[in-house]
Formats: sequence, structure tokens, C-alpha cells
Amino acid sequence: MPGNPAASKIWESISMKIFGVEFMPVGAPALSAADLSVIRLWIATGAIDSGACNTSTCDTNNYTYSGAIAPLMQTYCTGCHYSASSAGGSLIDYTSVKNAAVNGRLIGDISHATGYNAMPLGSIMLEDCQITQVKKWVAAGALDN
Ligand code: HEC
Repeated sequence: MPGNPAASKIWESISMKIFGVEFMPVGAPALSAADLSVIRLWIATGAIDSGACNTSTCDTNNYTYSGAIAPLMQTYCTGCHYSASSAGGSLIDYTSVKNAAVNGRLIGDISHATGYNAMPLGSIMLEDCQITQVKKWVAAGALDN
């Protein structure tokens, strides 16, 4: 029930252990308070599918083009930026991503900086960790690595 944790089966099933009722997960400890609050907040804010975002696998020390940047573009950007004739241009390959990086738009747009176009368009911002990966890649010369 987007926006309504109390009426959501998922919330009901995982939160019962807080009240001493044996339910989900069966035969395992209750989720941590931190995990419960993340899930509750996700439901309360609309249970939105914001893509394959997973901060636990984002490593800010990994900022190579092939290991971090290209996968980020594929997950969040190339659905719209798939060719040179796409609105806003292509982000499908190294050269096009590098061009967006060197003119400052890549970082300005994903940081939602004033005077830039907030990207991904119509979606929530990338995670801080992902933005850091892009910033580090650009600062290191936006290499094809
Ligand atoms: C839902 C479609 C959509 C998605 C997803 C999207 N964009 Fe865009 N993007 C656009 C459109 C449309 C424009 C043209 C905006 C304009 O010119 O007003 C644009 C423009 C741009 C530009 C051109 C420069 C500029 O600021 O005008 C860059 C760079 C850009 N996007 C980066 C990204 C990045 C990076 C992502 C992923 C993190 C992304 N976009 C995701 C639709 C999208």
C-alpha cells in the first residue's frame, strides 16, 4: 500500500516481531531496527521503483569507466540517451559520456546543480555514492579505463 505502511502486508509481516509476535522471517531473527525503518520509509514515500539502486554495492573507490560509469549510464541514463539523435544527446559509449563530462554537464546535471538540467529526468537523484563515483572519474581525467 504505497504511502500507507500500516495497511501494508509487507510491513505487517516484518514488524510483528517488534511486538513479540512470531512471524517473518520465520525461524530467523527480526530485521534490524535500521532495516525496518528503511522499508517503512520506502512504503511511506510511495514504494517507488527507482531502478537498480543499491548503495551497499556502490564502492566510491571503484570509479573506472568500465567498472562503474558505464554500468551507471546503462542503468539510469541510456534508456533516454541511446543515440546521438536522442534529446540531450547520447550517453551510450565512452566518447559521448566523456564529452558530457568535459563540458561540465554530466556532473552539473546529476548533482541537480542550479542552471543545469536535473538528471535522470523525472526521477529521483542518483545516490551520493554514485555521484561521488562520477565526480572521481571526471577528476581523474574521465579516462577510458
Ligand atoms: C527519462 C529520460 C531521461 C533520462 C532517464 C535521463 N535523461 Fe538526460 N536528458 C533528457 C532530455 C529530454 C534532455 C534534454 C533536456 C533539455 O535540453 O531540456 C536531457 C539532457 C541531458 C544532458 C544534455 C546536457 C544538458 O544538460 O542539457 C545530459 C548531459 C544528460 N541529460 C545527462 C543524463 C544523465 C547522466 C542521466 C542518467 C543519470 C540522464 N541524463 C537520464 C532525458 C533523460
